Amino acid sequence: IQTQVGIVGGGPAGLMLSHLLAREGIESVVLETRDPDTIRNTHRAGILEAASVWMLTETGVQGRVLTEGHEHRGTTLRYDGENHHIDFQDNVGQSVWLYPQNEVFWDLAQARERDGGVVFWSVADTAVHGIETDSPRITFTDAEGAGREIQAQIVVGADGSRSMCRQLIPEEVRTDNFIEYPFAWFGILCEAPPSWPELIYANSDAGFALISQRSDTVQRMYFQCDPETNAVDWTDEQIWARLQECMQGPDGFELKEGRIFDETVLKFRSYVCEPLIHHNLVLVGDAGHTVPPTGAKGLNLAFCDVRVLAPALVAWLRDGDESGLAGYSAKALERVWKAQNFSYWATNMMHTRQDENPFAQKRRRGELGSITDSERGRAYFSECYTGWQD
Ligand code: DHB
Repeated sequence: IQTQVGIVGGGPAGLMLSHLLAREGIESVVLETRDPDTIRNTHRAGILEAASVWMLTETGVQGRVLTEGHEHRGTTLRYDGENHHIDFQDNVGQSVWLYPQNEVFWDLAQARERDGGVVFWSVADTAVHGIETDSPRITFTDAEGAGREIQAQIVVGADGSRSMCRQLIPEEVRTDNFIEYPFAWFGILCEAPPSWPELIYANSDAGFALISQRSDTVQRMYFQCDPETNAVDWTDEQIWARLQECMQGPDGFELKEGRIFDETVLKFRSYVCEPLIHHNLVLVGDAGHTVPPTGAKGLNLAFCDVRVLAPALVAWLRDGDESGLAGYSAKALERVWKAQNFSYWATNMMHTRQDENPFAQKRRRGELGSITDSERGRAYFSECYTGWQD
């Protein structure tokens, strides 16, 4: 198969890139190891920045974000058992949208199918060859078990946090920047009404908890856990007891419970690959960088990469102008590092460390107060959370 852009990975980043390229008459082929139903049923974060919503609604993906998603004009930080509201609209004139990432994936997959996009699902044995030449190739086994080869002008690695493509950038030119955390998130989905109109990020002596939503009848919640936790070791009673402990307080906040039907332990780290391009291989999204989930920047950052990369690829493939591609890594990384800072900062501010001494704990309390009790503090948080305006 001959194409212009070979895209390894059919998650939101790979599909959005393929979609934007097609709009400009650039051909691409997308390969994905999973099948679409598996990806649709893999629960991920649920917050979209306005710029991400715009990419879905203004580029013809259509989709249901404006009808089925919910605009959130602010959020709440909770500590010492009290809620502290941060109004994004008042502070920076922006909102975010609650719309699950797996539904973003589904909208994009359907848009690709509608527009005749070439996507191979359920592939195996993917290997990329010749990225230091002008004619890189991708070999793979398709869903029917047949060996296939794609010849492209450039390969894009959109293959997620365990990226195979990233490993092709030689160690001499690649810097792996990362930091690990002594905690993970225990995530549940349950059948219950919402406990609050917006999200609540809570810190307590029992640790961090996030009360998020999916619909009027399904709620998404997380609490801080040890990274080695096995979800099956926790009974529903233990899960609710921990969540209630994280949310209790003198304000009498009431967390509504219901039947739990999905449990997952989410491990995370902060990671940035530099550079994001090596000869004819480019990385986008989680393949190039991952953030801890606090603040839900992952998908939004992936879309930011694509917003920079798509026009750069079009200029190169259509007009022979290489300047956009040459500048891709530096331009994308500028925003990546801002988001790395926010995700790292918010994670450390909101989580409780077991070995935390009284100084560290009280300093963190001061840090929370300096955000929630100050108009400038709230504005800073709002600007980061809603995504820095270009
Ligand atoms: C969700 C996840 C996040 O990491 C976050 O910061 C906000 C919301 C969610 O799954 O709804």
